[in-house]
Amino acid sequence: MAGKRSDIDGMTEKDILILAVESSCDETAAAVVKNGRQVLSNVIASQIDIHTLYGGVVPEIASRKHMEKINQVMEEALRQAEVPLKDIDAIAVTYGPGLVGALLVGVSAAKAVAFASGLPLVGVHHIEGHICANFIDHEELEPPFHALVVSGGHTHLVKVMDYGCYEIMGRTRDDAAGEAFDKVARAIGLGYPGGPKIDKLSAEGDPEAIAFPRAKVEDSIYDFSFSGLKSAVLNYLNSCEMKGEQINRADVAASFQKAVIDVLVEHSMEALRNTDEKNFALAGGVASNQHLRAAMQKACDERGIRLYCPLPVYCTDNAAMIGVAGYYEYLKGVRHGWDLNAVPNLKLGERL
Ligand code: KG4
Ligand code: ZN
Repeated sequence: MAGKRSDIDGMTEKDILILAVESSCDETAAAVVKNGRQVLSNVIASQIDIHTLYGGVVPEIASRKHMEKINQVMEEALRQAEVPLKDIDAIAVTYGPGLVGALLVGVSAAKAVAFASGLPLVGVHHIEGHICANFIDHEELEPPFHALVVSGGHTHLVKVMDYGCYEIMGRTRDDAAGEAFDKVARAIGLGYPGGPKIDKLSAEGDPEAIAFPRAKVEDSIYDFSFSGLKSAVLNYLNSCEMKGEQINRADVAASFQKAVIDVLVEHSMEALRNTDEKNFALAGGVASNQHLRAAMQKACDERGIRLYCPLPVYCTDNAAMIGVAGYYEYLKGVRHGWDLNAVPNLKLGERL
C-alpha cells in the first residue's frame, strides 16, 4: 500500500490506527482510520438543523454544541470501529483553519485523551484533510498530483508535491465558492446550507438562461473571485423585482452554478496544461456538487487526466479525512505538545 510505514522506513509491518477529531465548523466528528487509507468508523454529529434557523453558522452555538457532542462522537467512533483506545497509535485533530471556539473544543478534547492515554498528538490542517479524503478507497493515488479544494471557507488550486507538502497555485481573492453558493441560495430563498439546494434545484433550470459573469483576476491566471458574480445575481434579482418580473429560481440557480463551475474547470485545466501529471483531485464540500463533478470529469476525459473525487460523505467536513492526513503527518514524525492551540487562520503548509 502507498506510503505505508513499512515501505518508508523498513520497519516490520504493523497496522497504524489513528483516532481523529474534527470540530472546525458545524460538524462534531470523530473517526478511526487504519494505515491512512481504510476508514473503520466515521461518526458525524451535524448541527445543520440548529444553524438553519439562523440562516448560517452561529459560532457561539457551534462551540456549545461541539461541547455537548465531542465525548460521545469519540466513544462512538471507537465503538463502531471495534478498536479499544489502548490499540490506537495516535490522536489526530484539526487545529485550523476554522472558527476559533469550535476548533478549541476538538483540540482540548484530543489533548485530554492523548494526555490521559499517553498517546502522541498530531495537529492537522483542515484543508490538508480535505485533500487527503481522496486517499480513502483510492489505494493507487499518490503524490504528485494537482487538487482543487472548494469548500465553504476556501477555494484553493493546489499542487500536492508529496504527502503533507503543498504549493498553492491559486486561491480566491474574496468569497469562497461554497460561500457564494450559500449567499445566492439565501437570496433566492432556499435557506442554509445553500450548496446542496442549488445543486438540486438547478437540475430543473436552464444554465444558459441568464448571462452571469465569469470573473478573471487580472494578475493571476489561477486565482478566483466570486464576489462580483454574487453581486450580479443580487442585481439581477433586484432588477426583476423592480420591473415586476417573475423570477425563475431554477434558472437563477442553474445559471449561477454554471458560472462558478466554468471558472473552476477552466482554472484547473489551465493548471494541468503545463504539467505531465495525469491525476487531478477534487476536495471540499462543493466537490460533492454533481454538476461540478460531471463538468470536471468531461474536461479531464478530454485531456486523458484521471479525476479523483471523494465519496460525498468525505467531501463535506468529517474526521476520516483528518485521520488520513494525520497518519501521513504521524509517519513523518510530526508530534504536537500540550501547548497545541487552535489557529483560526492557519495557512496551508504552515506548521505551528
Ligand atoms: O467542506 P465543508 O463541509 O466545510 C468547510 O470546510 O467550509 O463545505 C461546506 C460548503 C458549504 O458552503 C456548502 O453549501 C457547500 O460546501 N456544499 C455544496 C454542496 N454540498 C455542500 N456546494 C455545492 N453543491 C453541493 N452539492
Ligand atoms: Zn471543510
